Amino acid sequence: MKIRAFQSNDEEAVVALWQACGLTRPWNDPRADIARKLTEQPELFLVGTVGAELVATAMVGFDGHRGWVYYLAVSPKHRKQSFGRALMQQAEHLLMERGCPKVNLAVRSSNSEVIEFYRQLGYVQDEVVSMGKRLIHDQTPNPSINTDAAR
Ligand SMILES: CC(C)(COP(=O)(O)OP(=O)(O)OC[C@H]1O[C@@H](n2cnc3c(N)ncnc32)[C@H](O)[C@@H]1OP(=O)(O)O)[C@@H](O)C(=O)NCCC(=O)NCCS
Repeated sequence: MKIRAFQSNDEEAVVALWQACGLTRPWNDPRADIARKLTEQPELFLVGTVGAELVATAMVGFDGHRGWVYYLAVSPKHRKQSFGRALMQQAEHLLMERGCPKVNLAVRSSNSEVIEFYRQLGYVQDEVVSMGKRLIHDQTPNPSINTDAAR
């Protein structure tokens, strides 16, 4: 897998990958999420390719205090080949280059496989309650949706 920054013509493949990986949510418009990321540290929006195929993503950012990783995804048919590990290593490398002392990320507590993946990479559970407040509603809010992940 080769890792590079997102390019505008990757958008369709990225959205398809996120849908295939179950990362899209009704309250997050993936195209709006991509457009917003391109306004801040676009060089930290990473994609992984095998040949011409886009197989992985990681949306990375440094806010001046902590690094954050969102939308880590590896295509189902390319999993368990250390692609996720490689993307996270590159994310950490780019964050350290910027002087970032710690990476934070959020995983649903029910997502035990991904929690185990991050444990293997040296991540530990912080004793914090993750809180968020939505500032921009991408779509009409649906009161039946439990917006537990304001991510
Ligand atoms: C999480 C994810 C990115 C892992 O990608 P991957 O390329 O398969 O992971 P790797 O092959 O790099 O795995 C690294 C280590 O994590 C562990 N691991 C990976 N997947 C695992 C799983 N499903 N269950 C338990 N451990 C796992 C393995 O121990 C592996 O170590 P090894 O290389 O010594 O075998 C991928 O499963 C994915 O895209 N999941 C769906 C999207 C998602 O939920 N993203 C996270 C949002 S918070």
